[in-house]
Amino acid sequence: MSESIQRETWATRIGFVLAAVGSAVGLGNIWRFPFQVGEEGGAAFLLVYLLFIVFIGLPAILVEFVVGRRTDRNPVGALKAIGGDSWKYLGGLFVLIGFVILSYYSVVAGWVLRYTVGSATGGYTEDPEAYFGTISTGLDAAVFHLIFMAIVVGIVALGIRRGIEIAVKLMVPAIVALLLALAVYAYTLPDVAGAYSYYLSPDFSVIAAEWQSILPAAAGQAFFTLSLGMGVMITYSSYMSEDRNLGEDAGAIIGLDTGIALLAGLVVFPILFAAGVDPASPGPGAVFVSLAAAFTDIPFGLVLGFLFFFAFALAAVSSAISLMEVVISYLIDEHGVDRVRGTIAVGAGMLLLGLPVTVDLTMVTLYDQLAAEVLLVLGALGLVVLVGWLKSEEAIDELSKGIGDLRSVGTVWIWLVRVPVLVVLVVSLALAVTSYVDFLRTEFLEFLGEL
Ligand code: PFF
Repeated sequence: MSESIQRETWATRIGFVLAAVGSAVGLGNIWRFPFQVGEEGGAAFLLVYLLFIVFIGLPAILVEFVVGRRTDRNPVGALKAIGGDSWKYLGGLFVLIGFVILSYYSVVAGWVLRYTVGSATGGYTEDPEAYFGTISTGLDAAVFHLIFMAIVVGIVALGIRRGIEIAVKLMVPAIVALLLALAVYAYTLPDVAGAYSYYLSPDFSVIAAEWQSILPAAAGQAFFTLSLGMGVMITYSSYMSEDRNLGEDAGAIIGLDTGIALLAGLVVFPILFAAGVDPASPGPGAVFVSLAAAFTDIPFGLVLGFLFFFAFALAAVSSAISLMEVVISYLIDEHGVDRVRGTIAVGAGMLLLGLPVTVDLTMVTLYDQLAAEVLLVLGALGLVVLVGWLKSEEAIDELSKGIGDLRSVGTVWIWLVRVPVLVVLVVSLALAVTSYVDFLRTEFLEFLGEL
């Protein structure tokens, strides 16, 4: 480990909070969240999701924060410092997940860039369905994957203060402002009442009837949206220079992430309802096709589409840089690699790993389900066992720094981590493995057969 290199830190507290919010707010909030709400029965899902955010997401994000701040290290170094040599493999898993997730996240984010351009040129208005087919695979997809990756490499190569911190200070406020403006406009669209009631009034009979699918979906979404389970929050909190109140920071980050997801729903649903598009149409491409169709139909649709996809692209960049930083912090801390060279090399590797995803949409599912549903949950589970059960005293001690006397709050937190968080992760992992095996046996085999 190269102890002699002066480790970077955030210049300001708000820089750290915005970077974490920037990581949390991404494709998950704008793309995954509204459509999960759609697929899982509207407001009923929303209610369960909010409960998960508070009782599972908040304790879990604090686990990553205490690990990062206590050790001032990347996930591999951090887990080794806390748990001993054998725990470094869990840190290694985090780095690996970061690598895999960014390789396909960048392909999907490339579609978003393409739709931003498409809104400016009106490219998708003629046939939104055919348009998605053309741009989502093949050379088009690969080129935009390359452009997106180059943007991410450029920001991360500049470092914590000059790259990531400045970028998020510009991007996060811009995302909020754009979505607010779009939500106000969406409010003026026809059938906004229908959209709001679908989105905001829970039907409890739906929860009772479909809890088996609502619960894991809500838990998975809570982890994914808060960027948990892959060391992002460990890495970002390791650049903190002082002992601040982590509870307040976590509250602010979670509040902003949830607020932005809710806001995205207030934009997306009125637009879909106004254009008469079914909000429950599933699949990774459905969002793009149905939104593009809606933007083609409603007044000022293309201007709206441009602003929407632009906000969406900013959100994707601010998440992608956090994934890249996990890998880079590992290379810098553990192997003394130069930041600029390391970032370029890692970006090139991710670019290659992402290329198969541009061949067919089935590959998106192959990567996404494995990384985001199986590996990420496995990573979070390992961390919860280490911090909640094996190193709880140190964890409570670390949380108390910057807060003072925790009283019973520390105990409540650890028990939330030890039982509810752990149970949710174990159940989610079991379900995710089953559904991944199912996917491999059916859809993926058929895909291979067609090649
Ligand atoms: N939280 C991001 C989103 O909601 O899109 C996705 C994400 C980013 C997940 C970074 C995990 C991560 F480490």
